[in-house]
Amino acid sequence: MRVGVLTGGGDCPGLNAVIRAVTKSLIQHGRCEVIGIADGFEGLMGELPRTRALGWEQVSGILHVGGTILGTSNRGNPLKDDATLAQVGRNVLALGLDVVVAIGGDGTMSIAHGLRAVGLQCVGVPKTIDNDIAHCERSFGFDTAVATATDALRRVESTAYSHHRVMIVETMGRHAGWLALEAGIASAADVILLPEIDYDLQAVIDRCRAREQRQRYTIICIGEGAKERGGSQTVRERVVHSPDPVRLGGVAHVLRERLQPHLQSEVRATVLGHVQRGGDPTPFDRVLATRFGHHAARMVIDGDFGRMVTLQGGAIGSVAIADVANTQRTVPVDHELVVTARDIGVCLGD
Ligand code: F6P
Repeated sequence: MRVGVLTGGGDCPGLNAVIRAVTKSLIQHGRCEVIGIADGFEGLMGELPRTRALGWEQVSGILHVGGTILGTSNRGNPLKDDATLAQVGRNVLALGLDVVVAIGGDGTMSIAHGLRAVGLQCVGVPKTIDNDIAHCERSFGFDTAVATATDALRRVESTAYSHHRVMIVETMGRHAGWLALEAGIASAADVILLPEIDYDLQAVIDRCRAREQRQRYTIICIGEGAKERGGSQTVRERVVHSPDPVRLGGVAHVLRERLQPHLQSEVRATVLGHVQRGGDPTPFDRVLATRFGHHAARMVIDGDFGRMVTLQGGAIGSVAIADVANTQRTVPVDHELVVTARDIGVCLGD
């Protein structure tokens, strides 16, 4: 069997660990040839497909390395029109590809599934630092991003303490607050603001004022998709050739401007941005990514196509891609972590 492997959408720590585990498992099995596809679906879209053979040597020494050796892109969509799809079909035929292991988010999953139209089967592997893929309780990359954001929040705290400031730290996460919630709890943030709970400015002001009297500094952790009650999300830019029509970012600065007039302390904002996506995966993510990659290879061997690897109740399994494509797993407002944060006195802005 000829098996293509590609990474689509935004990168995240642990992609290389999946590529390594898929490749090694398939080679060990003995009847598979593995082809790496460059830059997500873009590598299949031109007149000359961009691919390279993946053997044991090509995937050795990459377990701990961040990013993806294959490159990625969130622009190329082979399903965008008939001519593009037909070209992809010719490339698939020329390469002799039977299956593609698509490592990506919800958008990548739905595109991979759509390639059945040109005779290409697929197995999906979920990745995202946002941890927002339906039916998957933990995607690899998330643990590393939480660790990076937590470290940043702790660093900001010491300078907040020295200057008696209110420090707002913005995490990524799109429309899901998992990253802000876990990093906020792990760094003992005083206020955690999530996209799932619209915040009341007065509640945040009250918490900062109370702390101005006693501790004299406040740490606010805010997810990029959060918004004030009655307000709207802060859009950094609109994107044309992407499954995601907007890029979020900058809500920390918006909140800073709204808060400052009401407080004596200085208010400062830090947007963590792509540092959360970079760097070496944590040991947890290396192990999870290896488990995902190994399971994806088993699914290829068993002919278990059109499905995505998942983690549910701590166990590796799979779900139909049709059930996850273009859906998102946001934080339920009654989630145990939300209740815990509230019960230990964290202000959630409501
Ligand atoms: O989905 C992962 C993610 O990092 C989001 O948290 C963030 O909103 C987005 O990607 C940023 O995308 P880009 O790298 O295209 O700016």
